[in-house]
Amino acid sequence: MNRIELLKKIKEQLAEVNGFEIGDEKNILCEILSISPAKMLLKDDFSDKEIGQVESVLEQMKQGKPLDKILGRKNFYGRDFVVSEDVLTPRKETEILVEEGLKELSTNFSKNVDKIRVLDLCCGSGCCGLTIAKECENKGNMEVVLSDISSKALKVARQNIDNLHLTNIKEICGDMFEHLKKEEKFDIIISNPPYIKSQDISFLDKQVKDFDPTLALDGGDDGLQFYRIISKQAKDYLKKEGCVLVEIGYNQGEEVKKMFEENGFKTHIVKDYSSNDRVVVARLKD
Ligand SMILES: C[S@@+](CC[C@H](N)C(=O)[O-])C[C@H]1O[C@@H](n2cnc3c(N)ncnc32)[C@H](O)[C@@H]1O
Repeated sequence: MNRIELLKKIKEQLAEVNGFEIGDEKNILCEILSISPAKMLLKDDFSDKEIGQVESVLEQMKQGKPLDKILGRKNFYGRDFVVSEDVLTPRKETEILVEEGLKELSTNFSKNVDKIRVLDLCCGSGCCGLTIAKECENKGNMEVVLSDISSKALKVARQNIDNLHLTNIKEICGDMFEHLKKEEKFDIIISNPPYIKSQDISFLDKQVKDFDPTLALDGGDDGLQFYRIISKQAKDYLKKEGCVLVEIGYNQGEEVKKMFEENGFKTHIVKDYSSNDRVVVARLKD
């Protein structure tokens, strides 16, 4: 089948899938076959195997499965991460959390700290901690600890560690700070915890509520239960000038800020590209 015919076929089938627009068929074809747009434009003959691959993906998309979960990978901060039904698919807005973490660390590296330690609490696929590890690979001595209550999520994180060829990573399975030693302090604690109110989960898009694990979404009755734990306990695990960075829902900024301030932190909020509150940065007061 030639390119024009295949793109037409994809376009027709995408009309039955929510959230796709005219023009998306080219990107989808590149995604499915893992080829660049430039390569796709030069390719004019698609094998039966490739067409079968495309048809199978489209069939699953028509049944409501998100493309990333079908392909088992999602690009985050310029790198592909393995995803499965056991982890939240990394979100674009979480790149802001990582960006802020990297800004904090650049100050630490410039101070020539002996060994920089980063904790990614509620790591899921590991996209935050592992991106930081990769971005800082040549900057100095660093250890990243990934922690999650889900051993299945940690298996996915392990695949990502291997794919990124990282060696300075430690994985811990446990409930929040449960298995962390207070004497092993961190320069930064970064976390994108579950923050959806329990009663709101049934109203989320089908692609989220049916394909991301509830464990990764459910933040308790008011959506804030994990921020309560982090704001109370984080200081026991931080170095003196340490800092906590948490992703938040667009309307949680003031409440989360207050929690950290009541626990001895000074804070500021960072907005995302849509000008919504997205990250709270909390630093221990001197
Ligand atoms: C919103 S997801 C974030 C995943 C990843 N950090 C990201 O940004 O894509 C939250 C993660 O918290 C984990 N989690 C839920 N309850 C937890 C708990 N009590 N202790 C540690 N991790 C928990 C879930 O398994 C899930 O992987």
